[in-house]
Amino acid sequence: MRTLSIDQIETLNAHGPYNHSAWTGGAGVLTHEEALEGRGRFIADTLLSVLTTRFSGDRLARMSILDVGCYDGWILHQIGGLPLRRLVGVEPRSKNIRKGEVARSILGIETRVEFVQGGIENLAESVRGEIFDIVVATGLLHHVESPAAALRSLRQVCGELLFLETITLDSRHIGAAARAEIEPKDVVYFGRPKTVGMCGNKLESSYYDGSATGLSVVGIPSIETIALCCEAAGFSPPRLEVNPAGYRRAVWRGKRPFHAAILTAEPAPRQTCQDLGHGQAYERKLAAARIRREDLAPLHQRFCLGKTRVAHTEVSRAVSALIGKRGERAAGTALERLVESQVEREILRSFAHSPAGKIALEMGKTHLADNDPAAAEIEFRRVTGGWNADWRSTYRAFHYLAAIARSRGLDKDRRRYEELLAVANPHFPARAWPEDVEAEEAEANGLTRAAGMTRLGSSSPLQEV
Ligand SMILES: C[S@@+](CC[C@H](N)C(=O)[O-])C[C@H]1O[C@@H](n2cnc3c(N)ncnc32)[C@H](O)[C@@H]1O
Repeated sequence: MRTLSIDQIETLNAHGPYNHSAWTGGAGVLTHEEALEGRGRFIADTLLSVLTTRFSGDRLARMSILDVGCYDGWILHQIGGLPLRRLVGVEPRSKNIRKGEVARSILGIETRVEFVQGGIENLAESVRGEIFDIVVATGLLHHVESPAAALRSLRQVCGELLFLETITLDSRHIGAAARAEIEPKDVVYFGRPKTVGMCGNKLESSYYDGSATGLSVVGIPSIETIALCCEAAGFSPPRLEVNPAGYRRAVWRGKRPFHAAILTAEPAPRQTCQDLGHGQAYERKLAAARIRREDLAPLHQRFCLGKTRVAHTEVSRAVSALIGKRGERAAGTALERLVESQVEREILRSFAHSPAGKIALEMGKTHLADNDPAAAEIEFRRVTGGWNADWRSTYRAFHYLAAIARSRGLDKDRRRYEELLAVANPHFPARAWPEDVEAEEAEANGLTRAAGMTRLGSSSPLQEV
């Protein structure tokens, strides 16, 4: 056992607290983990296990690792026995870097870890644009103002694997009411999970060595939020290495009222809005769907032509009730029973709002299908020329008007409608004609045209047509 002088002990105490480390030297274990006891060990062991499971020794020998918000470097030092090529810790507080140096020097500990002073906000500059094979961020995400921005910074420097440990907000807070308020609602999100996350916010000062670097409002993200931030930043969907229950059993054991998790993710191609693409598939499904003419005609007479006496079918009567906000539940049930196709049901239900434009659009599509572009044009222009026209019907009608002009060789009209379409909805898929959809689907699936059309009908939940 190495005996330390009072001067050395005072120096160590001055550089404390050692809340996130347990430096073991000849003189004993230097730590102030207290309620965090065992946390650092658990994280280091999990990191070791993840790395040795995923990568061979040869592979590791060629890899570099970066720990962001590394405190005094203890976690990185714990994996220093792996044959990693390079270990770098980034830490904004010079005091934390220094506390590690002092501890190692007094306790006689050698380390391979290199240190760089810097924060996550300017991470790429701090490491001079270097890409690290493995990027670690533990105990960091809940000390920054924006987990989304933090994950973007981590993505910039991450080559192969992200290892993330953070306190998380319990997912049980995301109840049905919150979900209904938050969840994405536009067509572009259809066909993908409606994941909803939450962030718990609080004011945090820089008082404590493990906290934010300046007075800020930090966010404790739910696991769902982390997954969303990973997606937006260009990481794969994260893998939950240790879930909050496992973490609680292994670390907290009732000592702290926290949820925490360990996740890993790999860099993925960076997403753009266009990459969502689901809105486009959705538009194509709508373009391919047809409402039966006998159901559409009475609705058209009533809501587009203003006739008061019309001969309804069962379907048009149910839709009329929806539009008039009468017996909506019964009308909804009737549509479920009468209309087999989900897309068609959704189109019919959508008539409840701005019926004139939406019905005219469907009537125009019906005329087109019957090879009557002149009649179709009248309906599409009824949409686009209507006062306070429904936006979705408007851009869809512009699309059809452009196509009609194209088929007639009227270039000036075609260009005008294409321009109007681009203004109304620049994300509208250029090729949404049913014939195109059919051919494309068949081609993609190596199926016959008919089989391609069958797949179109079997769609994911649709709303807000
Ligand atoms: C709770 S401690 C966790 C330390 C260590 N990574 C661990 O898991 O034990 C948070 C660390 O993140 C650092 N930190 C705080 N804000 C940061 C920021 N904006 N960028 C980088 N690191 C930050 C703190 O200085 C501290 O070292």
